[in-house]
Amino acid sequence: MNKDYSKDFFEVVKSRRSVRMFSDKQIPKKILDTLIDIIRYAPSSLNGQPWEVIVVTEEETKERLVSFKNQWCPNLKKEYRADFIKKAPAILVVCCDRERSYDRWLENGVIAATYLLLAVTSLGLGATMLTAFNLQRPEQILEARRILGIPGTVNPVCIIPVGYPAEKPAVKKLRKLEDLIHHEKY
Ligand SMILES: Cc1cc2nc3c(=O)[nH]c(=O)nc-3n(C[C@H](O)[C@H](O)[C@H](O)COP(=O)(O)O)c2cc1C
Repeated sequence: MNKDYSKDFFEVVKSRRSVRMFSDKQIPKKILDTLIDIIRYAPSSLNGQPWEVIVVTEEETKERLVSFKNQWCPNLKKEYRADFIKKAPAILVVCCDRERSYDRWLENGVIAATYLLLAVTSLGLGATMLTAFNLQRPEQILEARRILGIPGTVNPVCIIPVGYPAEKPAVKKLRKLEDLIHHEKY
């Protein structure tokens, strides 16, 4: 094997797909902890490590998250109804404490979520990243705080249902590499 790169890493990255159908199998606590642990290794602005993760398993809270997400879904994305998330054995809500985020809570949260998604793929589970939060709509953040008991200094960043896949999404058509590279200038 070429020692200059890890084949496993590229396989994980290239095989990751959003999974929206989950089996009934529960996620063992050890696996869940391993997935969340990987977030600690992500880069963060000024190494603030501002992440907080809420693990939602109760049906009632799942239902409230579904309603919340569907309510805030823009018209353009109505096909993305969030009902599927309640079938996931665990919904992870990645949040960032603004006091440790150095004005970069969204970026800090999204990069941690990316680490999580790749760990999920690596361990044979499936997940989808759903975002609903931005500064243009602070009421969204307030509502999520109410549902999940999140303190005022902490912002929710994304909602990630996780479970064992009950579907295998087809290979995704990618844009061509040469279409997105710009040498020296755009
Ligand atoms: C910022 C962001 C927001 C997303 N929001 C949603 C969402 O609200 N609902 C959903 O079902 N999928 C959502 N997705 C998943 C995308 O639909 C998915 O990543 C995309 O179709 C590419 O497919 P893949 O993840 O299988 O490669 C989101 C992904 C990103 C990165």
